[in-house]
Amino acid sequence: MRVPQATAVLVSVDGTHHPDGRFPISCDDLGLSRGHGVFETLPVYDSHPSSLDAHLQRLEQSCVLMGIPAPMPAVLRTRIRGLLEASSCSHGVLRIQVTQEGRQILAVRPLGRRLDTLRARRLAWPTPPFPPARAKHTSRAGYTLAPAAHDVDEVIRTTPTGHALEGTWSSVFCFRGGTLYTCPDDGRILPGITRGHVLFLADQMTISVKEEAPGPPEPNDSWFLTSSLQGIVGIHRLDDTDQPPMPEPIRALRIALDQHTGRPTAPSA
Ligand SMILES: Cc1ncc(COP(=O)(O)O)c(C=O)c1O
Repeated sequence: MRVPQATAVLVSVDGTHHPDGRFPISCDDLGLSRGHGVFETLPVYDSHPSSLDAHLQRLEQSCVLMGIPAPMPAVLRTRIRGLLEASSCSHGVLRIQVTQEGRQILAVRPLGRRLDTLRARRLAWPTPPFPPARAKHTSRAGYTLAPAAHDVDEVIRTTPTGHALEGTWSSVFCFRGGTLYTCPDDGRILPGITRGHVLFLADQMTISVKEEAPGPPEPNDSWFLTSSLQGIVGIHRLDDTDQPPMPEPIRALRIALDQHTGRPTAPSA
């Protein structure tokens, strides 16, 4: 089983830079010992963090949900600016993490490969009451292990009746009969920033949307995932079935999303 490895190149801890990505942390820090913390990951294009305001807003909400003192926004913004100025990565990934003790850990690493399409498996996985699904918390070893254990790129959490909620790192959409379906922001999922952009753009592009968790796959469905780092990514194999190529309205949505978030346009799926 292979799980992703960390590749941070520059780290700031409470404003102090650590160019080799290494820094001391107390073994009593509950962020370390229990995964009690919150985080955000977002792409940086031309040294500009994409959708930073939305990510900082969600970080603050996650802190409230997890009982963690929220960082002062002005201080955090200054530290982010300082880190990006000091970093050699003009296109990269910024990770913002706050531990239960209130330590602010910022890291930049190079932007990874963008997936064009991927393999996903649906798995009935009840929404745990703690930590709250609406918080982007750091207690997520299960999220890392699940795709590796099933030998897929993403596992889609479903209800016992097979209605798709979200992935371990992505929001889930199904384009079915000309309508876009996605789970509502009702406490069972993380309110994805990219999900929000897609709903906004679908409205602009007069694509019909229903915020309902899509039921088990049907012929002619087109399933795709969204995340800040990947944008829209198609699914070429869902469970044990090959999927048709991305239909035109979703290709157009993908290009519109790339423009909206400042991402260099990717080759089509
Ligand atoms: C559980 C979960 N759902 C959805 C997403 C996608 O959210 P965003 O579009 O804000 O990156 C993520 C991102 O990490 C996630 O961890």
